[in-house]
Amino acid sequence: MHSDLPLPESDALAHSEQLAAHLRAEILAQGGAMPFSRFMELVLYAPGWGYYSAGASKFGAAGDFVTAPEMGTLFAAATANALAPVVREVGPQARVLELGGGSGAFAEVALGRLAELDALPARYAILEPSADLRQRQRQRLQDALDPAVFARVEWLDRPFEDEWDGALFANEVIDALPTPRFLVDEGEVYEETVELDGEGRFVRGAQPADMLLSAAVRHVERYLERPFADGYRSELLPQLPYWIQAVAGGLRRGAMLFVDYGYTRAEFYQDDRRDGTLRAFYRHRVHNDVYLWPGLQDITASVDFTALAEAGTGAGFDLAGYCHQAGFLLGNGIAGLLEEADERTDEVGRVRLREQFKRLTLPTEMGERFQVMGFSRDVDLSAAFAMGDLTWRL
Ligand SMILES: C[S@@+](CC[C@H](N)C(=O)[O-])C[C@H]1O[C@@H](n2cnc3c(N)ncnc32)[C@H](O)[C@@H]1O
Repeated sequence: MHSDLPLPESDALAHSEQLAAHLRAEILAQGGAMPFSRFMELVLYAPGWGYYSAGASKFGAAGDFVTAPEMGTLFAAATANALAPVVREVGPQARVLELGGGSGAFAEVALGRLAELDALPARYAILEPSADLRQRQRQRLQDALDPAVFARVEWLDRPFEDEWDGALFANEVIDALPTPRFLVDEGEVYEETVELDGEGRFVRGAQPADMLLSAAVRHVERYLERPFADGYRSELLPQLPYWIQAVAGGLRRGAMLFVDYGYTRAEFYQDDRRDGTLRAFYRHRVHNDVYLWPGLQDITASVDFTALAEAGTGAGFDLAGYCHQAGFLLGNGIAGLLEEADERTDEVGRVRLREQFKRLTLPTEMGERFQVMGFSRDVDLSAAFAMGDLTWRL
């Protein structure tokens, strides 16, 4: 069934089997069914066991997927170009908050570029739930950054609790939030659960949705001006407005940028996308069996950017722009950065830079599959979206 996937090492399989045993025990303790969102939370984040919490390498060629900051310097440097005017505008007390710092690649390049642009924030905070990733980020940044710059970096357990000014940035974080799945059957809304079959394998189940999830599904139906057909199944993050409030409620003056794969709501909930957008990533292979090898593979769902726009504006921000990643990077100077980097490298480096540029911007690569959404509060972020703004599509 998974003949195209490389088999994990035996110690990794043993680790996964222990997590699976824990999942089975929790399912049984809850009366035989666990909401899918809880399953996703445990397989990704269970301390010591989950995909992001345990020690395996996830990012880059040796891992399971490659994110834009992992490909090289161009993505983070262009994003820093977009953030620098905001940092300067709010003044010397500016903070930058990065959510989900991954390997630390983004912070390393972004801080270097902000320094070049004379826009270093007073504090650069990384909110990273995974203790293992936090450790890797700290090591990398300590090795790579000038000590005076490293002294501005800090790690947070929770978002800033005081009021602050500056910029918030998140690449591929919303797609990693544990998401509920819903199912519509005979007009009623159900929440997808994970249950066990007679042999202890994980299988899909369903239970009546609670009020929060059903109200969110009805909200989407009203927006689409049509009910979901019977049997329609997808993902939805009813907690997104609360999450935005939690991470950015204290941001008094500044901007937020979110980059992720996803669509507008009308595209996300197309009639023929009847099983949602959930995918699993293992060693650069994408597949649909999210129950396979718990803790060893990444699981993600695409982002409904209309929902993100609603959540951001609901938290009191202005929607500053929405565009494909390609438009955003081109509008924020990626071509100039490529030329500058060209001059600092050799022939092989130039070929790699071109490859990176193409992967980030070509429509068939990340250029149009990834979207960027910006919000502002009492600052001007419009220049960052001068090219290819698509807010009219939301
Ligand atoms: C797919 S990785 C992306 C990492 C990095 N931003 C990059 O582009 O390479 C998802 C990251 O989000 C983090 N994450 C998950 N839930 C989070 C949350 N609620 N707040 C902040 N970070 C979170 C994960 O631990 C991980 O670092």
